[in-house]
Amino acid sequence: MRADGKINTLVLGSGGREHSIAHYLSKSDLTGDLHCAPGNPGMMEIAAIHRADPCDRRAVLGLCKAYGIGLVVIGPEAPLAAGVSDSLRASGVRVFGPGRAGASLESSKSFAKKFMRRHGVPTSDFDICTDPDECREAISRRTHPYVIKADGLAAGKGVFLADDAGDAEQICRDLLIEKKLGAAGETVVIEDFVSGLELTVFAITDGDSYRLMSPSRDHKRAYDGDKGPNTGGMGAYSPVRVPNDFMRRVEEEVIRPTLKGLRSDGIEYRGVIYMGLMLVGGGDARDEPGISVIEYNVRFGDPETQAVLPLFRGDLARTLLACADGDVKSCPEVDNSGAALCVVLASGGYPGGFVRSLPIRGLEGGCGESEDFPGSFIFHAGTDLDRDGRLVTAGGRVLTVVGVGGTFEAAKARAYARISSISFDGMHYRKDIGWSEE
Ligand code: GLY
Repeated sequence: MRADGKINTLVLGSGGREHSIAHYLSKSDLTGDLHCAPGNPGMMEIAAIHRADPCDRRAVLGLCKAYGIGLVVIGPEAPLAAGVSDSLRASGVRVFGPGRAGASLESSKSFAKKFMRRHGVPTSDFDICTDPDECREAISRRTHPYVIKADGLAAGKGVFLADDAGDAEQICRDLLIEKKLGAAGETVVIEDFVSGLELTVFAITDGDSYRLMSPSRDHKRAYDGDKGPNTGGMGAYSPVRVPNDFMRRVEEEVIRPTLKGLRSDGIEYRGVIYMGLMLVGGGDARDEPGISVIEYNVRFGDPETQAVLPLFRGDLARTLLACADGDVKSCPEVDNSGAALCVVLASGGYPGGFVRSLPIRGLEGGCGESEDFPGSFIFHAGTDLDRDGRLVTAGGRVLTVVGVGGTFEAAKARAYARISSISFDGMHYRKDIGWSEE
């Protein structure tokens, strides 16, 4: 904490999620100097950016010392799984993000499934296999579609669905013998398929108390109508229409047993738990659909965060600092109000191969709201500056454009109006984000 009561803050990561976190931290009067590593050109409007690898603990610790950092907020999963939080905490730095043990909820699918079974968190039945014979046996006891997950972190490429048992066995051999995902696929989880409506709830927690954020849904397929290949996410919206009593049930059936389980396993957890949930049976019109946990993540989702944070009426910096201090109970219960929708502008060809370094037009006025575009924000995801300082594309997902309003329709109109002012060669995006709410 500085003499003026503010706190210098470092955000680790470089995508749209981290840009949006930095944006809302910058709105707090608690935030002193804001730093991001490695950051992106969009973040330069609000923060100093540093070309450090977020997984390199020494480099991160060096930044903390050099800039008097009082709070580190870790965006992506890789530094969490690498134990960067543990190292920073051991050096006395306050951190929002779990240590390596807590990060196992995401970095090991087998750990997460066993954890849920052990602690009574609802999830589909499963087997954990390390050789093809075990896989064949596990597949023979199930019906299609077969769900196969690589155990480790695989940058969103570790989940497979197969309609045919032979194809499912081949996927297992590719992972276990051909090592197509390297060490991440040396163990596989084979689980029962669960159908229903998928949605996400974030809980900010110190392992004891928690605050839930507005439920959201992302769109993973590349093209309209949920068609085409899977991507890292082409857009998201919040809130999602949920059955009466849904959030109370998430508390009772998922978050409380999860936190109790973490405590009984001796895992201290300070950060966000992303609960990937399936509403099973009858859709959201029924009063009592079942809840099944598809996955945990140990960080905010991308792009869900860009649609959830605009609705959070609390002070993000104070909330994340309280969490880092193990004092979430001191955070007021705040409403999440209004609606937000975000659309990812992607490079031509994404999620396959794409060309980089293409000039981006339409961001000359910056990322924030403007008179022409009230209630809309741009968060950079995969951008860079070329040698002449021009903004260019540098990734598959290039920008996230967010619209915020009192209603879903207003938010949607604002997001798409802003998109009409932005272009780069090959740009593609979905025109139907939020279709399931209409
Ligand atoms: N949007 C999915 C994720 O962040 O994992």
